[in-house]
Amino acid sequence: MNGEVPKDHSIDNSLALMQEGYEFIGNRCKKYGADLFEARLLGQKVVCMTGEEAARIFYDNDKFQRKGAAPKRVQKTLFGVNAVQTKDGAVHQSRKMLFMALLSPEGVAEVRKLAETYFREAASKWETMDRVVLFEEAEEILCKIACEWAGVPLKEDEAKERAEDFTAMVDAFGAVGRRHWKGRRARTRAEEWITEVIENVRAGELAAREGSALHSWSVYRDPDGQPLDAKMAAVELINVLRPIVAIATFISFSALALHEHPECKEKLRTEGDEYREWFSEEVRRFYPFGPFVGARVKNAFTWHGYNFEEGQLVLLDMYGTNHDYRLWEFPDQFHPERFRDWDGNLFKFIPQGGGDPAKGHRCPGEGVTVEVMKVCLDLLVNGITYEVPEEQDLSYSLVRMPTRPESGFIMANVKRVQ
Ligand code: HEM
Repeated sequence: MNGEVPKDHSIDNSLALMQEGYEFIGNRCKKYGADLFEARLLGQKVVCMTGEEAARIFYDNDKFQRKGAAPKRVQKTLFGVNAVQTKDGAVHQSRKMLFMALLSPEGVAEVRKLAETYFREAASKWETMDRVVLFEEAEEILCKIACEWAGVPLKEDEAKERAEDFTAMVDAFGAVGRRHWKGRRARTRAEEWITEVIENVRAGELAAREGSALHSWSVYRDPDGQPLDAKMAAVELINVLRPIVAIATFISFSALALHEHPECKEKLRTEGDEYREWFSEEVRRFYPFGPFVGARVKNAFTWHGYNFEEGQLVLLDMYGTNHDYRLWEFPDQFHPERFRDWDGNLFKFIPQGGGDPAKGHRCPGEGVTVEVMKVCLDLLVNGITYEVPEEQDLSYSLVRMPTRPESGFIMANVKRVQ
C-alpha cells in the first residue's frame, strides 16, 4: 500500500533540506503531485506532508503526539529541554492553560499598551540617529516590553544583550555549527538568569505581581501537584519572553511589505484597524518564519493510502500550506484584502501552527503578535516619516531558516509626525 506514496529516492534528504529550506516540502509535493511523501532526514524515515487536510490530521491528538519529536538540538536552543512544546496529555493541557490565561485578551491589551509607549519613545530616539536598523531596535524594545509585562526585572543597560540572546535561540533552530552553538550559549545564559529570578521570588527576596507571568510560573504546579524545579519554571517563563522578542522578525517583514507595496500605505492610513489587521495577517502568511513542525504518530492509522506507523516522525509544512494554491488565490502575491473574506479556518492559515490553541500545540501568542505588529505599522505609517536608503540588502533567503531581510531593514532621516 505504501508503495503508492511517493518516496524520495535519495539516500538522505538532509542536504536537500539545507539547500531548499522553506521550500523543501512544497517542492517535492509539487513534483509528485501529492500531499505527502516519504523521505530520510538525519538517517531516519520521515513523512512530510502539506495542506489543510494534512494539518487537520496532524493536530488530531488521537493520531499524533510530541513525545520524542523535537530533536535535543532544538530543545537546547529554541524550546528548552522538556518544555511545553514536547509535552502531551494532561501535562501539556495544564501548562497550556496557563499560557492561554497569561495571553488572554487582557494580557494582549497589556502588551499592546506597553508597545504603544515603548515604540513612541523609540521614535524620538530614532530622530537623532543617522540610520536605524529596525530589526535591532525592535528586538531590544520588545525585550523591554516582554520583561516589564512578565514582571522580570531588567536593567536598561542589559536589555540589548538579553534581546540578542533571545534572538540567538530562535536563530539557531535551523542551524548547524557556529549559529547552533551561539544559540546554545544564549539559552544557557538566559536560563541561568531567569532561574535565579524565580529562585528569588520563591525565597521572598523579589516581589512578583500576582497574575504576572513571573509569579504564575514561580507558583505553578504540574497536574501531579509537584512544583516545577526552578530551571523548568524558567524554561516556561522564557517561552513567553523569547517569542515576544521574535516578533521583531515580523516587524521587519511588515516594513519590507510596506516598502514593496506602497499602494497599501494610503489604505493603512485611511482604513483603520481592520485593514491593519488584514495587512498583519498577510505578512504572517506571505513571509517565511516557521517552516514546518514535527510530531510522532501516537496510534497507527492510514491516510491517502499511506500506513502511518506508531512512533513515526512526521513533518507538517507550515510555509507551504500558507502558500498552497488550492487554499489561497494567487498565493505568491501579497494581497491583504484576501483576509476580508477569511473564513477563520484554523487548518488553512497556520503561520504559528494549526488548530485550536486551547486543544493542541498551536501558538498561544498570535493575539500578542498581531497587536504588536499593528502598533508598529501604525507608527511606520502615521507616527513617523523615513527614507529607505538604497545601500542595504532588502532581500531575504528562503534557504536560511529562520530568515529575515538581510540588512534588518534600515531607515534614515526618521522624523516624527507632529
Ligand atoms: C513571533 C511570532 C511567533 C511565531 C512565528 C510563533 C510560532 C510558533 C509555532 C510554529 C509554534 C509551534 C506550533 C506547534 O507546535 O504546533 C508556537 C508555539 C508556541 N508559541 Fe509561538 N510564535 C510566535 C509568537 C509567540 C508569542 C508572542 C508567544 C507568547 C508570548 C508565543 C508562545 C508560544 C508557546 C508557549 C508555544 C508552545 C505551545 C504548545 O506547545 O502548546 N509565541 N509558536
